[in-house]
Parts: sequence; structure tokens; C-alpha cells
Amino acid sequence: MTITPEHIRRLTPYVPGKPVEELERELGLRDTVKLASNENPLGPSPLAVKALSKHLGEIHRYPDGSGFYLKKALSEKLGVSADQLILGNGSNELLDLIVRTFYHPGMNAVSSEQTFVVYPMAMQAVAGEYRTAPMKEAHYDLEAMAGLVDAKTLCVFIANPNNPTGTIVRREELVRFLDRIPESVLVVLDEAYFEYVDDPHYPDGLSQLREGRNVMVLRTFSKIYGLAGLRIGYGVARAELVDSMNRVREPFNTGSLSQAGALGALGDRPHVERSRGVNEAGKAYLYKELSRLGLPYTPTQANFIWVDTNRSASDLYEALLREGIIVRPMGARHVRITIGTEGENERLVQALQKVLKR
Ligand SMILES: Cc1ncc(COP(=O)(O)O)c(C=O)c1O
Repeated sequence: MTITPEHIRRLTPYVPGKPVEELERELGLRDTVKLASNENPLGPSPLAVKALSKHLGEIHRYPDGSGFYLKKALSEKLGVSADQLILGNGSNELLDLIVRTFYHPGMNAVSSEQTFVVYPMAMQAVAGEYRTAPMKEAHYDLEAMAGLVDAKTLCVFIANPNNPTGTIVRREELVRFLDRIPESVLVVLDEAYFEYVDDPHYPDGLSQLREGRNVMVLRTFSKIYGLAGLRIGYGVARAELVDSMNRVREPFNTGSLSQAGALGALGDRPHVERSRGVNEAGKAYLYKELSRLGLPYTPTQANFIWVDTNRSASDLYEALLREGIIVRPMGARHVRITIGTEGENERLVQALQKVLKR
């Protein structure tokens, strides 16, 4: 006898990796290199750390539930009004909140195969239908996705750049897609890796919003700002949608330290520039080395690379783990490797060289 409904029992849970300390203990490793979760290898923004220490003495107080100062800073930086902004416990919470706020029984959501695992989870949690179109050479096939949209579609999830492939949807494709689908369908543009993109054809979701499209742009402090552990992200959409989501969200969904850290990081241009520079250099190095090792990869617009291992991905993952390198196996043959610091990338290449010879 269980009170857990059938759709929750069938939900595939997100499987987090073991804590690094535990892995090191089990495998007798030291100085493990973690390239599995697309975190910033340079660490947090120093200005964020400074802001955190300043606020530590105030954590007996509840946070500002409206996130007034962070939203003010974001609204100035992005040129949107504060009532178009919503903060979340990571952008992950906002994905869930979109579904919880706007879902009616019988509705569906549309996305692509090989995309962010949280989209199906958000729909499965409400027993909603989740439809996916196959990818076209590691890219979203927006035409096929438009074909899945119908009168019951609540939203379309587009990760741009996509996790795990690192590819983008281009401006003209996105505009054609938005022209084709009904205005009532919310298009979620999940831009977690926005700051890493250098392709001039990349569509900044905010300009689509300004043009009056029904889009919600999601961004995060977890990636280039280096604050994944604080759990803070934000969404930008029409004020009316934000107002609805604010009715559903938990009143204190983002903590005072998270808000303070994010505010500090937002003003830290040098840290963002440094992080982008390290990523660009690491990308060029890894492209060269992966080619030399005969491992095909998909060119990336983010801080990770989708690699075709030409063999069992889980075997390669296990072999690298024993060398102290943690990557993320994805599907039968692929691994996703976060671009690290120069030293981390070199350790990865040495380990790959060693295990591929076996
Ligand atoms: C595409 C995408 N969206 C959203 C997130 C969630 O980020 P967070 O909840 O840390 O803001 C991630 C994290 O890996 C991601 O890859």
C-alpha cells in the first residue's frame, strides 16, 4: 500500500554524482579533477565571496523575499523592469515553477531529445505529457518541434546553448519557429550558458521578449559566475507571467546569502572575463587534443564538450575515474566533459591517452 501516485513512482530521478571526498576515499584517489557538472573551474567570483562574508552575521533574519536589490541590479543591467524578473533557487526551480503555475491537466510540453534532463522531470511531476523531437546532427530540430506543438501545449523548452551537446539555435531559426507556433505557447529560452557564447548568430532571448514574443528567458549564477552551490538563478518574462509565478512560489525561495553573493558576482566583470578567457583557451586545447586522440566531438558554445567515445561511455567513465578524472557519461557512447583550467585539461588528456591505449 503506497500513497505515492503512479506518475511519481514512474518518475526517473536525477542521479547526482557521489561527493568527491567519498569517491576519493572509496577508490584511494587524491587530487581528483571534477569535469562533470559544468561548474566554473576558477571558483566563485571573489567579489561574491566578499559579499557573502559581509552578510554572514545576518543569517538569523529571513531573506528579503522579493529580492529587491538583486532584481534592481538585474533590471538595470538587462534593461527590463523589476516586475519582469523572478528569482529562483537555481534556474532549476524556475523550470519547475513554470510548470506548477501554468499547467492544467491534459497539457503537454515540447522539447528535443538529448537535452536538459530537468524538463521531462518537471512535466512528469505533474503527470503531464512531455513530447520530444529527434535531434538533427546534435542540434535542436525546431521544425520537427513545431510539428509537435498543438492547442494543448503549455510550453516549449529550448536550452540555448544546449546541455549536453553545446550547440545553439540560431536567430533566424528561432524567429521562424516563433512565427510558426501559437502566441499562447510559452517558449522557455534556457540560457544557462549564455555568457560563454561567441557565435554571432546567437539570438539573445531578451531581444525576442522586447519584440513582444511570449518567451521566458532563464539565466543562472551557477555557471560563469561560479555560484552553483548557492543555488540562484533568474527568469525574465512578461510581468503578467511573473506575477502568476510569484503567487505560486515559496515566499523565501532564495536565501539572503544567495542574493548577496549573486549581487557581488554581477558586478565582477573581471571574473567573468577571466572565466571566458580560460574557457576559450581550454576549448582550443581540448579540440586539438581530442582530434589527436581520434575522439570526435561537437563544437561547443558552452563550457563543456560532447564527445563521441566510439566505445562504451560507462567503461570510459570508469577508467577515467580510476585515473582521478570525473566526467559525465551520457547515453551509450557519449561523455560530456566540462572545460577545466589549463592544468585540469592537461590531466584529462594524459588520462585519456593512458586509458585509450588499453
Ligand atoms: C541547460 C541548463 N539549464 C538549467 C540548469 C540549472 O542550473 P541552476 O539550477 O544551477 O541554475 C543547468 C545546469 O546544469 C543547465 O545545464
